Amino acid sequence: MKFAKVKTDIPGPKSLALFNEEQNYIAPGIQTIATRSKIAIERGEGNFVYDVDGNRYIDFFVGVGVASLGYNHPVYTKMMKEQIDHIHVGSFTSENRVKLTKLLSEIAIGDLKWSQFYSGGAEAVEAALRMAKSYTKKTEFIGFWNGFHGKTVGVLGLLGDNFKFNLGPLPAGIYTTPYADCRHCEFKQTFPGCNWECVDHIKKKIRYETTNNIAAIIVEPIQGTAGNVVPAPGFLKELRKLADEIGALLICDEMITGFGRTGKMFGTQHEDIVPDIITIGKGFGGGFPMTGVMSRKEIIFAKPFGNPSGSSSSYGGNPLASTAAYATVKTIVEEGLVENSATVGAFMLEKFNKMKQRIPIIGDVRGKGLMIGIELVKGKDSKEKLDKKYTEMVFQECLKRGLIVMGYNADIRVYPPLIVTKEIAEEGIQIMEEAFTYVAEQIKN
Ligand SMILES: Cc1ncc(COP(=O)(O)O)c(C=O)c1O
Repeated sequence: MKFAKVKTDIPGPKSLALFNEEQNYIAPGIQTIATRSKIAIERGEGNFVYDVDGNRYIDFFVGVGVASLGYNHPVYTKMMKEQIDHIHVGSFTSENRVKLTKLLSEIAIGDLKWSQFYSGGAEAVEAALRMAKSYTKKTEFIGFWNGFHGKTVGVLGLLGDNFKFNLGPLPAGIYTTPYADCRHCEFKQTFPGCNWECVDHIKKKIRYETTNNIAAIIVEPIQGTAGNVVPAPGFLKELRKLADEIGALLICDEMITGFGRTGKMFGTQHEDIVPDIITIGKGFGGGFPMTGVMSRKEIIFAKPFGNPSGSSSSYGGNPLASTAAYATVKTIVEEGLVENSATVGAFMLEKFNKMKQRIPIIGDVRGKGLMIGIELVKGKDSKEKLDKKYTEMVFQECLKRGLIVMGYNADIRVYPPLIVTKEIAEEGIQIMEEAFTYVAEQIKN
């Protein structure tokens, strides 16, 4: 291997000692792959992460797509160092916040040229819900099965899975409905002959379950946590039509799909529609906790959201956060990283699709740009997902060979930094093939 360099058992002795020490104090429930890896990290450089034992990993995870510029990017670190030497916090206007808001308005989808900032993804999603209520004067929301929008109480009801079990009661007026995940169609239909039964179902849901007071439909352009599931083409257009029909807003949660991740500046742009609000975060701050909402003037000015202090927060858009986001977005634009995401992403997708012909446990490969999902199944032509015991093994086999990839369940999620080169991508893919081959052998035996 040229890039990945593993010199110790994983975790190495120094990592394990630190990990074990932390376990005496930290709450359980830290991110699954951190728990499973037991590695302690020391530094990052470009596409690579180094642990405290000196092992170098190719990173196909980057904090769930957060470190969009990779690690230690010279523009990012220079601007951050300069800013922290000047001033880091406070809600006053700062030069980089002005530059950021201007730049965002230039790259915005359609007329969504106004923005406001927060420090967590769920917080931004909640702000979008508040904004939708302020504008429409309506109170109900529709989300999607297997959708993910964060873990705060205000968004829990939008999570279309069992994460919310035992955490009720949930805020009233929130409904979920099947996503256009054609491979696992809840209506047992085949696209395009289905005549959008999943969209039709939303109309039925509104008629039979709601008080017909829908403020917004909220959707991920590609469902990230579900496993980078790409919906049927035209799904967002159908939702746009439906939202207009019922007088609701369309919110696209671009937390993962934004800022080049899918090979376009925003994931929604694969469908040529303009939503009413988008939420942004993760790769937006390049690693700094910086999130936000973007919308058009008449919506973002609606009160009470638009009242003095109605949309703000303690940390949102502070000088350091604004610098992080400005450095990131400016670099994405100036270094052509959206294009790199499209090019290297297409290269990777093709490689994974070829790999699918060779590896019987790969059931599906999908994605756009550098947001790729690989569904592992029990055997060739099966749609039954692989047991956790084996997906854990995939993760460990990758790690041992020097690759970090998000493999805590049967839907492996691949998120290299936007700066990734074909050469580095290829080595990571080769490691994944070795891991899949190993696990497929274990299943056979
Ligand atoms: C689409 C989407 N929205 C919102 C969130 C919540 O972000 P945070 O974890 O920063 O609250 C996530 C996190 O994974 C996400 O994927």
